Amino acid sequence: MREPSGVEGVKPERGRRHLIVANWKMNKTRPEALAFRDTFAREAEALGGVEIAIAPPYPFLPDLESSGGAWSLAGQDCSAEARGAFTGEVSAEMLASCGCRYVILGHSERRKHFHESGALLSGKLRQARQAGLVPIFCVGETLEERREGLTREVLRRQVEATENDPPEAPIVVAYEPVWAIGTGQNATPAQAQESIADIRTLLAGRVDLRVLYGGSVTAENASSLASRKGIDGFLVGGASLDSPGFAGICRSCP
Ligand code: PGA
Repeated sequence: MREPSGVEGVKPERGRRHLIVANWKMNKTRPEALAFRDTFAREAEALGGVEIAIAPPYPFLPDLESSGGAWSLAGQDCSAEARGAFTGEVSAEMLASCGCRYVILGHSERRKHFHESGALLSGKLRQARQAGLVPIFCVGETLEERREGLTREVLRRQVEATENDPPEAPIVVAYEPVWAIGTGQNATPAQAQESIADIRTLLAGRVDLRVLYGGSVTAENASSLASRKGIDGFLVGGASLDSPGFAGICRSCP
């Protein structure tokens, strides 16, 4: 079992590469998605040092499959229900059948705009497991919560949704401070490292845990974050929309 870490944290385990996830959110048309795929497929040949996953909008999932296996696919969300009369929902099983390996759950945009609660997220987590998907579970505090010194408490509350998840199942947690998402104001490496160490302590019973940082990651700031122990990779929004920029982030990881 992996040791819980202090602020120093741990680098990706020996032989394990950084995981870099592109979260496209609700961006791109299908022609734009296809153009990205074709350009990035050429770039990705030289990016074997990292593990890459792409989370496009649902309709583009089959288009975005990597022919050479250079990246895997991720869903941006899934339903807490298995199937049935839930118009507009997408199940974990559907994602798996479209080739997804990962699913992002609990992104702060979903928590905020769609009022996703811990109870709902534990249902989504259960569905993801049943479908064999690896969750990328997002947590992070707002600026107000940070200013009030509540960051640790917020993270503790948010990870409670993983309580019933089997401890031996692989899980990726993305630490994404809400104030850093899409703002151009990334957390400093020290801030990211501190909260990531807290997350590792909270989830000390997990056998296979990777913790990513997300929030205004760019090709310019990626290497100072990636070189910090304990940061196993990135969840990238805006800077993942452009193929050279995203490849630059992937190249920045040691
Ligand atoms: P950003 O988004 O990189 O545009 O800040 C990150 C995310 O929301 O996952």
